[in-house]
Amino acid sequence: MLPAVDFELEALRSRVAALEQLLEVHEATALAQTVRLENIVNSITDGFIVLDRSWRIIYFNKVAEQTFLQMSKKTADLLGRSVWREFPDLVGTEVFDRYHKALESQQPETFEFSYVQIGSWFEIHVYPSSDGLSLYFQDITARKKAEQERDQLLRTEKAARLELEIKSEEVRKLNAELEQRVQRRTAELENAMKELESFSYSVSHDLRAPLRTIEGFSHALLEFYASQLNEKAREYLGRIAAAANHMAQLIDSLLQLSRVSRSDLMFEQVNLSEIVIDIVKILKETSVDRRVQTKVRLNVHAAGDKKLLYIALQNLVSNAWKFTSRKDDAVIEFGLTEKANALACFVRDNGAGFDMAFASKLFRAFQRLHHEKEFQGTGIGLATAQKIIQRHGGTIWAEAAEDKGATFYFTLKDLQIKHEPALYFAS
Ligand SMILES: Nc1ncnc2c1ncn2[C@@H]1O[C@H](COP(=O)(O)OP(=O)(O)O)[C@@H](O)[C@H]1O
Ligand SMILES: [Mg+2]
Repeated sequence: MLPAVDFELEALRSRVAALEQLLEVHEATALAQTVRLENIVNSITDGFIVLDRSWRIIYFNKVAEQTFLQMSKKTADLLGRSVWREFPDLVGTEVFDRYHKALESQQPETFEFSYVQIGSWFEIHVYPSSDGLSLYFQDITARKKAEQERDQLLRTEKAARLELEIKSEEVRKLNAELEQRVQRRTAELENAMKELESFSYSVSHDLRAPLRTIEGFSHALLEFYASQLNEKAREYLGRIAAAANHMAQLIDSLLQLSRVSRSDLMFEQVNLSEIVIDIVKILKETSVDRRVQTKVRLNVHAAGDKKLLYIALQNLVSNAWKFTSRKDDAVIEFGLTEKANALACFVRDNGAGFDMAFASKLFRAFQRLHHEKEFQGTGIGLATAQKIIQRHGGTIWAEAAEDKGATFYFTLKDLQIKHEPALYFAS
């Protein structure tokens, strides 16, 4: 037969066998490579999808598959299908625009996308090639939510700070207004005080001048025309003079009350006992017909304004003097005692006293418990004494009973006996 043909056939067969063997080796290598590549692609934590130039899905990794499952997509059906047909809600979105742009320009694209339909955020990297697009994506919903929460917190904080600023501004304005109001009020008050001062001045001068005229002419009438006047006329003139005198006293007391209310306090150590002794001495000199036994605790000191404390004690001691005037065995005492765990001074007498039911009324101006015919007065003395004690930070009160005498107590700062043992001055 044709040995040459046989030989050639044999050679061809062995060539084919060799080629088949080579192909097998190549196929095995290719498979191994594919598996390796697939392993690599599946080991990355990003989602990975490959699209061809006609937008067909030609590959996706495990992470991408998980995402599709979350969207209730049947992953088995996806390969080879058009991405826009499978996900029509993405048509016209930023995803759609960016993919097209990347494919046309052949430039990579990176962007964040909120997939509203599934409530998730993705960061997407698009890498174009002549075959289509490779897409890497990561679910960044947790990070975005944290960012949104942080933004919300920042906005809330900013709003709170703004509100605080507005409130502080309001407070500042209110303070400024208040300051202005205080200044205005102070100015008004100063004005009112000045008016009061000039009023007091005109009262003392303008009211006293006509009073002096009345007093002067009634005395002149009594002195020079007494022989021409009958008994009745002389009595009337006497009454006119007495009324004018009473009015002069009223004016003096009111002026004194207004003066002690506003004069500046000059604090010093004051020996109250000496003041009382001085007042008693003057009272005894001016009414020699009175027989009054006085007992004064010596060296009672306090911190205060000497002139004002003199006026207060003068009012208290002269009241004791006056309201004992109907007693034969009048006794007036000045001393220091403990009242309600505090030291208090007192001026005590055994005179007319009064009903304690009216005790609180006494300290109001013009309030008198005794009739003018019985005991003369203006009713301003205790109001003046109280004003002085209060301006020194002390209190004043009374204890009395009708026909059993009265005791007036008052407290002052630094009230004390300077030198023990206790000494009394009696007269
Ligand atoms: N030592 C006292 N004993 C009794 N009553 C007093 C005594 N001191 C004050 N009073 C009563 O308090 C009133 C008010 O006193 P005061 O303001 O000094 O006015 P005045 O001495 O001008 O009457 C007196 O009218 C009198 O009724
Ligand atoms: Mg009096």
